[in-house]
Amino acid sequence: MPTHSDSFANLRVFDHPLIQHKLTIARDRRTPPGDFRRLLNEIAGLMTYEVSRRFDVRGVQVETPLERTEGRQLSRPVTLVPILRAGLSMTDGVMQLFPEARVGHIGIRRDEATHRPVFYYAKLPHDVRDGYSIVIDPMLATGGSACAAIRYLKDAGCRDIQMICLVAAPEGVRRVHDEHPDVMVHAASLDRELDGNAYIRPGLGDAGDRVFGTVDVGS
Ligand code: PRP
Ligand code: URA
Repeated sequence: MPTHSDSFANLRVFDHPLIQHKLTIARDRRTPPGDFRRLLNEIAGLMTYEVSRRFDVRGVQVETPLERTEGRQLSRPVTLVPILRAGLSMTDGVMQLFPEARVGHIGIRRDEATHRPVFYYAKLPHDVRDGYSIVIDPMLATGGSACAAIRYLKDAGCRDIQMICLVAAPEGVRRVHDEHPDVMVHAASLDRELDGNAYIRPGLGDAGDRVFGTVDVGS
């Protein structure tokens, strides 16, 4: 069960031992891309159980092999929205639990000099506004990328938006709260701070590079 952060009303931190165990291995600079991807997907899967707790259900009739009975099913579609690239690393883990979920992609990269988000791609289901949206990105640093993605979803008519990330910086959580107070952020850790390059400390480095092996392990 995640705990509400004492510092931020819009943040839930997952202090579950299994999630913390996996996060610690993911942080380790020696963890290679294959293990890193597996861990991020496993953590995302574990988080999904709680993230979906308040989804609406409706009663439906179902024929068991023995009789007709009433069951419950999710009443609205779920759209996962990974922010490219690194968000892809947690999406399969969520889809293991939600095979029916659709996936909309938003491409945003952070400008290395200004740290501002640069939007380059989006593809969403045509009826995305009718259901729940879960923005997925392992890193919430300045919050620029997350806020831009959430803004894009809101402009597309989405109202029920949550975010899953692995590691959040206080600056990013605050920014999401200021710009989108209705959006709950679920994280495995609230880290200490951003450094001068807007990297999260202690963090885990550049998530996209670690997921896709575009930086040497141990460099
Ligand atoms: C990383 C990360 C987030 C963003 C967080 O992506 O995956 O999207 O930075 O930083 P912010 O909160 O300050 O916006 P990056 O721009 O490195 O792109 P990538 O996933 O393609 O590597
Ligand atoms: N993006 C990352 O991948 N890592 C950080 O620490 C900050 C932004």
